[in-house]
Amino acid sequence: MKKPVKVAITGAAGQIAYSLIFRVASGSMLGPDQPVILQLLDIPDAMEKLKGTVMEIEDCAFPLVAGIVSTADPMEAFDGTDYALLVGARPRGPGMERKDLLSANAAIFSVQGKALSEKASRDVRVLVVGNPANTNALIAASNAKKLDPRQFTAMVRLDHNRALSQLAAKTGAATTDIEKMIVWGNHSSTQYPDISHCTVKGKPAKSLVDQAWIEKEFIPTVQQRGAAIIKARGLSSAASAASAAVDHMRDWALGTNGKWVSMAVPSDGSYGIKPGVVYGYPCVCKNGQYEIVQGLDIDAFSRARMDATDAELREERAAIEDLLK
Ligand code: NAD
Ligand code: LMR
Repeated sequence: MKKPVKVAITGAAGQIAYSLIFRVASGSMLGPDQPVILQLLDIPDAMEKLKGTVMEIEDCAFPLVAGIVSTADPMEAFDGTDYALLVGARPRGPGMERKDLLSANAAIFSVQGKALSEKASRDVRVLVVGNPANTNALIAASNAKKLDPRQFTAMVRLDHNRALSQLAAKTGAATTDIEKMIVWGNHSSTQYPDISHCTVKGKPAKSLVDQAWIEKEFIPTVQQRGAAIIKARGLSSAASAASAAVDHMRDWALGTNGKWVSMAVPSDGSYGIKPGVVYGYPCVCKNGQYEIVQGLDIDAFSRARMDATDAELREERAAIEDLLK
């Protein structure tokens, strides 16, 4: 058995965490031979509820759980943390846009970025799930002066998985038959799910579907999926979000074997997206590191959509600029 690693999960009393914690504890994220110490953070008012979740974790008698910390103090929650899943934030309700959450949630991520900077493992990998995820990751990274901004990522994997599932249904394939899916930009309705480079059982996806389906059905369905789930459930997606978080961290930690996955990472000028935002890119992961896939041809249709989602991220940035110091 390996030495235990510390996994911090914020928003631990919330609905995503109620699925996520149990997946992490069972070994779905870091493998069946990797013990974990769970570091669960929520706000003081949620401590009683969190107690119930902790009792349930105990009652699973998970062989991989080597310890459980539950706390309302970020400095305690991030002490020595190897993997931080920042889920805790106020979710969007019916009729709300993600932008409405900006100010409500921005403060949380500056405090947590500072705490991670002080207390986490120097090698910590951070995934921000709480919305607006890309900009919250930017805030956390900017406040973590002692860490590399590249250690901070945001989740577009749920969008990536949604895109795989839509294309698989349309082409009568399995999601595992599809390669090179990309979700560019923001985890919001401006995101650009792009099948230009995709193959289905080795054939170009674009030879299997028509352009009208891409423009009128595929892209809007993926972009609006979060809102469709809120409308249907009265609550935002939870189990699928947890599953995507597990996928994102597992691939980052254990590698993608050359396969592309979508991760929102600090922009570095790749594909004309200037530094300063956390942007969804196609990535490959190896030896615990991610790299942006380089050298793809971008046509005019894609360029316009990639720039539109970049523009939205820069607007979000402008709204919270004072928190980036
Ligand atoms: P929820 O309301 O069920 O749970 C959120 C939890 O966070 C609550 O227990 C709350 O007390 C806690 N919290 C609030 N402030 C906190 C703080 N400062 N520190 C620690 N915990 C804090 O919400 P949920 O459904 O679990 O969703 C959580 C977030 O994830 C929301 O922002 C939601 O919009 C977002 N989300 C993102 C994606 C994605 O793909 N990136 C998908 C689904 C949901
Ligand atoms: C989602 O994509 O399901 C979440 O981000 C919830 C939302 O607000 O859309």
